[in-house]
Amino acid sequence: MPNLNIIDEREEEKERDKVVVLDFGGQYSHLIVRRCRDLGVYTELIPYDIPIEELKRGIEVEEGKGKIKGIILSGSPFGIHDPGSPKCSYEILDLGIPVLGICYGAQLIAYILGGVVGEGRKAEFGRTELFFKDSELFDGLSENGRINVWMSHGDVIERLAIADIIGYTRNTPVAAFRSKDRIYGVQFHPEVHHTEKGDNILWNFLYNICGCDKNWTIESFVRDKIREIKREVGSDGRVMCGLSGGIDSSTTALLVNKAIGDRLTCIFVDNGLLRKGEKEAVLSTFRKNFKMKLVFVDAEERFLNGLRGVKDAEAKRMVIGGLFINIFEEVASKLGNVDFLAQGTIYPDRIESAKARSDSVASRIKSHHNVGALPEKLGLKLIEPIKDLYKDEVRKVAKELGMSPQILNQHPFPGPGLAARVIGEVTEDKLRICREASWIVEEELKRSRWYDRVWQAFAIVGDDVATGVLGDARSLGRIVTIRVVESKEAMTADFVKLPYDVLESMSKRITNEVKGVTWVTYAISSKPPSTIEPC
Ligand code: XMP
Repeated sequence: MPNLNIIDEREEEKERDKVVVLDFGGQYSHLIVRRCRDLGVYTELIPYDIPIEELKRGIEVEEGKGKIKGIILSGSPFGIHDPGSPKCSYEILDLGIPVLGICYGAQLIAYILGGVVGEGRKAEFGRTELFFKDSELFDGLSENGRINVWMSHGDVIERLAIADIIGYTRNTPVAAFRSKDRIYGVQFHPEVHHTEKGDNILWNFLYNICGCDKNWTIESFVRDKIREIKREVGSDGRVMCGLSGGIDSSTTALLVNKAIGDRLTCIFVDNGLLRKGEKEAVLSTFRKNFKMKLVFVDAEERFLNGLRGVKDAEAKRMVIGGLFINIFEEVASKLGNVDFLAQGTIYPDRIESAKARSDSVASRIKSHHNVGALPEKLGLKLIEPIKDLYKDEVRKVAKELGMSPQILNQHPFPGPGLAARVIGEVTEDKLRICREASWIVEEELKRSRWYDRVWQAFAIVGDDVATGVLGDARSLGRIVTIRVVESKEAMTADFVKLPYDVLESMSKRITNEVKGVTWVTYAISSKPPSTIEPC
């Protein structure tokens, strides 16, 4: 591990090249971003209707933000001719930097350039053979000018006005094109694994066509971030950070600590809704191992009192969010002269909350209270050092910073803690069952080597009871539901088809070891329509 405490202050901060993906709502938009980042160029997803002036500023260089060297237009569930179909400023093609349109993005470019896009007559879905001509975009792909690509489109580009066809398939006469000024379009999806050499195509765009420098790595991110935090906080600024023990807040705290040492104070609140062993793990990791300044607040009683009688899921979140804010305010006023609040917001959080803001209230699903009102209430400036990262990138940063394996490898845990998994009123008894049963679920997954293969796994308990037999007597007990899901970034999720013997040992242990449980069930719905957490 590099010694991050010794960073050469004089080393000049390099501006990082970046590419932006205009999001037209396609199902693979995030994947495009991920692939480009994995190839070594910092890439951001931005709304398709971003004002053209903003893009111009980004190309001319925004201070400390890196220069935009290329633009990718994503796919979309819309067709170009659908009413209300998303369209970006047409000036996007006159900015003087390369543009790559993918699927809908390619059709939009063809349309802007005066071509003809036909509606849904020759739809093509799945793997198809692409015949391509030599071009910078397809450089080094294959000797025979053919590769298998992944198609998923209804409309087709029928004619181009001012561009050359550089690829076609049996059903799609214009599967790839190149226009003047380094404007490219591909009807297929280079970002999905099913497209052979898709990474090569993106690599060609990023490096051969846009001329980006390969400078996005986790090490460079960590180094730049530490420098940025130092600059932002200044030589005597003070920061506080709510530490939950989850990977996001832990990574945030470590980054800030590396930058400003003990001018950072972490606050760890035991709200009585933590997982088994979590309090001990957090205290020992941050106080003993990392020797960080950590204020521990035992607020179990306060939270459980606040939650008494509250049954509605959203109301529980509000109580919990409100109490967190109160406690933070109290600690901040005790600490005195705190200037900044560090928060572990990550990229998908920002996207989800942006969506939540733009959606109608009726379609808001859950309020994730951790991207909230705290900084305004406290009058603190906000630092969000990992706000551009996806979850697995956060894990890589944490590893780079020497995070303990226990925190590094644990599953995500929601801000409202076990209250998200106790349906109805949160009582001591239901909490005990949820905590103990979840512990067993995790232990059994670790024992059967499934833990690292799934996204989240836990137990849920509500108010339903069912009959059981204990010895000769019949008795009523709680129903515990096991939920184990696989997911990428939690936007969608599938229940995991666990082997029956793993489920059986979980069930046996839960009914034997957790007092008051008579039945165990397995949650077999996916997201959507369900969410991952029940409340
Ligand atoms: P849902 O249940 O909405 O959850 O499918 C998606 C992901 O977010 C986590 N989650 C939360 N995280 N505060 C958080 O920090 C919250 O209020 C919250 N609610 C859900 C959940 O565990 C899953 O990983």
